[in-house]
Order: sequence, then C-alpha cells, then structure tokens
Amino acid sequence: MSLLFHSYSLARSALFSLDAETAHELTLSSLQKAYDCRLTRKLLSASPALPTTLMGLTLRNPVGLAAGLDKNGAHVDALGQLGFGFIEVGTVTPKPQTGNPKPRLFRLPRASALINRMGFNNTGLDAFVQNVQASEWRQQGGTLGLNIGKNAATPIERAVDDYLSCLDGVYPHADYITINISSPNTQNLRTLQRNQELASLLGPLQERRRALADQHGRHVPMAVKIAPDLTHDQIDIIASALHHFEIDGVIATNTTLSRERVQGLPHAAEPGGLSGPPVHELSLAVIERLRHQLGADYAIIGVGGISNGRQAQEKIAAGANAVQLYTGLIYRGPVLIGECVRAIAQKR
Ligand code: FNR
Repeated sequence: MSLLFHSYSLARSALFSLDAETAHELTLSSLQKAYDCRLTRKLLSASPALPTTLMGLTLRNPVGLAAGLDKNGAHVDALGQLGFGFIEVGTVTPKPQTGNPKPRLFRLPRASALINRMGFNNTGLDAFVQNVQASEWRQQGGTLGLNIGKNAATPIERAVDDYLSCLDGVYPHADYITINISSPNTQNLRTLQRNQELASLLGPLQERRRALADQHGRHVPMAVKIAPDLTHDQIDIIASALHHFEIDGVIATNTTLSRERVQGLPHAAEPGGLSGPPVHELSLAVIERLRHQLGADYAIIGVGGISNGRQAQEKIAAGANAVQLYTGLIYRGPVLIGECVRAIAQKR
C-alpha cells in the first residue's frame, strides 16, 4: 500500500492543529498536487475490486465518497485514485453562493464526529459542469454521482426551479444524480421531504428526466438523499413517493440535528448537522425501514458514521447495497476505503 495511505496518521495531527475548514482545503489541495505530479500519482493508486450493481450501474466496489467533500467537482480525478468504487460530488446550486459565515465546520474528536453548517458554499452550476467535464474519471470507468440542491436565496416554494435547472445542467455528465432534500443548513430544505412538497418536487423532476432521457438517448438514474431525523411514518411516505415517481434509489442518510450522543462535548451546541459515529445507528434504522418498505430490489446507499469495516458491514446487513464515507475519512484517512471493501467482501 502506498506512502500516502500510511502517512495520513502522521499528517492528521498537523491537520488537526489547524481550523477544520482550513485543514479540509489543505488536504484537498495536497491531494490534487500529488495527483498532478506524475511521479507521486502512482503513490495514490489503490483500487480494491468488488463489482457491485446499483441502479443499473456497475460499480468497481460498493464503497463511495459521500457528497460535500468536493462541492465543486474540482478534484474528481485525484479523489478517484484513492480506491473508491464511486464518487459523488456537489451539492451544486444553480448560482454560486458563499454559504454561511465562518467558522462553520467543527471537530468533536472525542466522538470522532463533525458539526457543519456550510450552507451549500459552491461556485455554481456552470463552473461545476466545467470541472466535471474536464475530469477523466468516467472515461476511465469510474462512476460519478452529481448531487443537486437549491440556492439559499430561492424561496422554498420555487425550489423546484432550482432543481430543474441543475438537472438540465448535470444530466449529460452524470452516471447518477442525487436530489438533496436533507441538508439541515439551508432554511426549510427538509420540508421538501413532506408528502405534498415531495410530490410537487418529484413530479416535475420525473417529467423533465423523461424529456432529457429522450434528448440524450440515455436514462440517468436519480436518487433522493434523506435525513436521519425521520419517523417511521415519514419514511413510509417517502418510500411510496420514491416508487410512485420512479426514483431509482435512495441515499440514507445526511447529517443529524440530534445531539443526544454528543451531549456535553466541546462544540456539541454549535448549530448545524452532526456527522460521524453518532449518526451510525440513526441511519441504520432509516435503512432498515426503507428496505422493509421498498422491497428487496430497490437501490439503497447507506451513509452516516462509518468509521471502520464492521460499521460498513452493518450498513449492508441493514439493507444497503453500497455505502458512502465522509467523516470517517477525516479521522482515519484513505485506509478506511479498502478496509470497508474487504469487510463487505467477507460477508458476500
Ligand atoms: C456533508 N454532507 C453533505 N451532503 C450532501 O448531500 N451535500 C453536501 O453538500 C454535503 N456537505 C457536507 C459537508 C460536510 C462538512 C459534512 C461533514 C457533510 C453530508 C455527507 O455527505 C454525509 O451524508 C454525512 O456526513 C453522514 O456521513 P458521515 O460523514 O458520517 O460518513
């Protein structure tokens, strides 16, 4: 295994001495530099193989990168070298926006967790599409998910316009598209998960997707990403809407608003979404319910709090077909990817 993989634990203590968002930017730019330099590029390569079918796509392995780490789709090729079976970038919004004031990302090291209230900071749809178009990951057989959202300034009643603009823009460049309606950091976004609001969003998206499939001669699967903070009744409503509007998959889950598992820890009271191990059980419960409601053949991507191979196995056992990582990567580094692939392989 490569130098980069083993050196992460050394780099981590230096990174953790920096403010969390600065460390995040530094890590991405260092990864990009290592990739751009042909000599070090081969140090990055690691690609455990465990072919997996998801929404009609064939993934190299069932362990993916979750949305939000590369919001602008500017590092797809470099991230692709770390061994992921699929990569999801975004959330992108139609127009560029700066997001919430800093600081807006906090570490809770005793829980190996993060709290973020980034608020969809991104350089907008045009720049996103350019970045994604310039990447070679798809040509090399990688699977790319593009995650779409709404601008903060767009009233929630007009949210559908933003999602349609994004769908039009990303459609030709995506292997799958994620409709993110579960960020806690865009006001009222999560209300789109309610019955009526969900129908008003998914109906037009379904219709537009049909038109785009005709235009481009290709059916691009759509997945909806949901919150962990839902009751069984709410999950059941979402599950029937997914069937009704012919959505191909569901991503469970986003970050949580709950602080039950981090009470008393420094930063625990910061507003925003909590990620990492405190989300694991919450997301497992959502996945189990979804699998029960959606039947054996529906595509479920499990995400939330995976920080070791066993937790990846638990996501699969609960009903997920594939998993995604984010916070675990910050605490463990890229070794976590191969560890999860091997753990899932053991249970097949
Ligand atoms: C996220 N997440 C996220 N999700 C999404 O759909 N769009 C986004 O833009 C973001 N942005 C984002 C930023 C930061 C800093 C974090 C920590 C997370 C949510 C992420 O994809 C994932 O669903 C949750 O973090 C739960 O998984 P982990 O982190 O516990 O593995």
